Amino acid sequence: MSNTQFSATASGLDNVVAAETPLSHVDGEAGRLIIAGHDVEELASSHDFESAVALLWRTAGLDPAPSEADVRRDLGRARAEAFGLVPALLAATAGLSVTEGLRTGFSLLSDEGTLSPQIRAVGAAPVFVAALCRREEGKEAVAPEAGAGHAADFLRMLRGRPASEAEVTALNAYLVTVTDHGMNASTFTARVIASTRAGMISAIVGALCALKGPLHGGAPGPVLDMLDDIGTRENIDAWLVREIAKGERLMGFGHRVYKVRDPRADVFNKAVMLLTNGNERVRFARDVERAALAALKAAKPNQRLDTNMEYYTAVLLEALGIPRSAVTAVFGMARVAGWSAHVIEQERVGRLIRPQSRYIGTWPDDRAA
Ligand code: ACO
Repeated sequence: MSNTQFSATASGLDNVVAAETPLSHVDGEAGRLIIAGHDVEELASSHDFESAVALLWRTAGLDPAPSEADVRRDLGRARAEAFGLVPALLAATAGLSVTEGLRTGFSLLSDEGTLSPQIRAVGAAPVFVAALCRREEGKEAVAPEAGAGHAADFLRMLRGRPASEAEVTALNAYLVTVTDHGMNASTFTARVIASTRAGMISAIVGALCALKGPLHGGAPGPVLDMLDDIGTRENIDAWLVREIAKGERLMGFGHRVYKVRDPRADVFNKAVMLLTNGNERVRFARDVERAALAALKAAKPNQRLDTNMEYYTAVLLEALGIPRSAVTAVFGMARVAGWSAHVIEQERVGRLIRPQSRYIGTWPDDRAA
């Protein structure tokens, strides 16, 4: 076994600036997220998903600049087009999880066609996720409605019946909030792939692969598992202390950039409170959160660990009836907006991303000595 020592900060590219972008900015000390000139709290309450997508693509410099109406019309068309691929998707993904199914689904898309690849990818995501979720319940896929709103159409395709206005508002708040987030791992992946001129669809497939890990977008499912496993209020403290002592990470806490509370957690907390009027599950999640923050502080006094957005993503998406197996895919359904904007921008930059590594192995001259 090698005894080479890796530097944690070099291995994680901490504080390395990998791109210049007007798309989004994360201030980890202030707990502030700016997306295309808007504070995330304001964006989530003033935009629906389609208008946020148009904003991001315009900000990325897409030419011609799309209006909100263009994006609404073309997303409807793209959802209808994607429904034609559902039989091939289901045939190719038997036994795969919803997120892995979405990964295959993106791979079925072409960079060529009447609609742009970014519209095709953003439009296909809810159609594929809904069909994959329904397959898990032994149900037939439901066709999209081209004239419907993106969030409303997703919930209808998922359930086979229309969602309430409150549910559509809550899902829009979620989708808008997570459209983009600086140089996170999946966005960086998308930009690296785009920089080789491999094309939009390949960049999106790669980005989803990076998203699905539990240290990135795969955390909400385990957050819900944690809440279920804890089960009762009496069990909270003992459960948390035991898991931390075992060296386990508490899902939904800690962040590479945020050293204070992730502002997106508050947007989702507010949305789920409005949606459920603070039901027992939400109150329980809040109690677990409070106890987890105290337990982390006691166990790791030198680390600044706070709630990240995945904690309340889990609680909000559960309240919306999104199956646990699909929460990461629903994250991808929204983040594809940001990935595609970054790909558009990276293609404009036009320069291959090719960093260096520092060699810490044995030099041939030393071996000979
Ligand atoms: N629970 C317990 N300890 C933690 C946690 C956690 N959630 N997060 C970090 N730590 C500890 C580490 O064990 C380490 O402690 P040590 O020095 O005693 O070994 C210390 O804090 C530093 O950890 P790093 O791994 O260096 O921190 P990093 O910046 O790489 O971690 C990450 C960020 C991966 C998100 C981490 O906090 C984590 O694993 N959280 C849990 C998973 C999660 O919630 N993921 C979703 C992130 S949000 C998103 O991507 C959308």
